[in-house]
Amino acid sequence: MSSTPALSAAPHIDAETPADAAAVDALVLTAFGPGRFAKAAERLRERASVSAGFVARDGGRLLGAVRLWSITIGGMPALFLGPIAVAADNRKAGLGAELVRACLDWAANQGMGVLLVGDSPYFGRFGFTAAVGVSLPGPVDPRRLLWRGADQPTGTVRPAV
Ligand SMILES: CC(C)(COP(=O)(O)OP(=O)(O)OC[C@H]1O[C@@H](n2cnc3c(N)ncnc32)[C@H](O)[C@@H]1OP(=O)(O)O)[C@@H](O)C(=O)NCCC(=O)NCCS
Repeated sequence: MSSTPALSAAPHIDAETPADAAAVDALVLTAFGPGRFAKAAERLRERASVSAGFVARDGGRLLGAVRLWSITIGGMPALFLGPIAVAADNRKAGLGAELVRACLDWAANQGMGVLLVGDSPYFGRFGFTAAVGVSLPGPVDPRRLLWRGADQPTGTVRPAV
């Protein structure tokens, strides 16, 4: 007699597809509000290419999303993480960590480090530390500019395509 495989109710992480774009935008807008468009990180993303995106789904519902963007830092290729958002009613269940780890696995496969603007109390647990000597083309709190990678880069961040 054949048995039916158990179906996991846990959300899982997938690569983002073009069909996810509208739901990702809505999730990010809800999480950050329209003020995020004024930020230096957003200025950078406007001119950079998406290298990869990951989503957390539960059935048809999008519960979390994150993107990685192609950049250079002082001429060195790297990836810029963000925005990352998890639906408010699904936080503190590890989805954010799974999304970050998907990004770090992708970056490792590319042989690149990851830069982001974010809260070090959250991202420190994944090995991110202050990106001393790195500057964005716009104002950013240096305590929030974080790096994780083999070599500590220095120089100005530029969008890459
Ligand atoms: C940040 C975010 C993506 C984390 O998603 P998540 O699925 O809740 O993350 P995890 O389950 O992996 O981790 C939850 C833990 O991180 C902590 N945490 C969440 N955001 C934090 C922050 N900005 N600073 C410090 N700790 C934070 C939670 O308090 C929780 O702590 P606990 O494990 O001691 O209970 C989510 O809170 C979110 O979407 N926030 C709004 C958007 C945002 O601010 N994004 C950028 C953050 S810099």
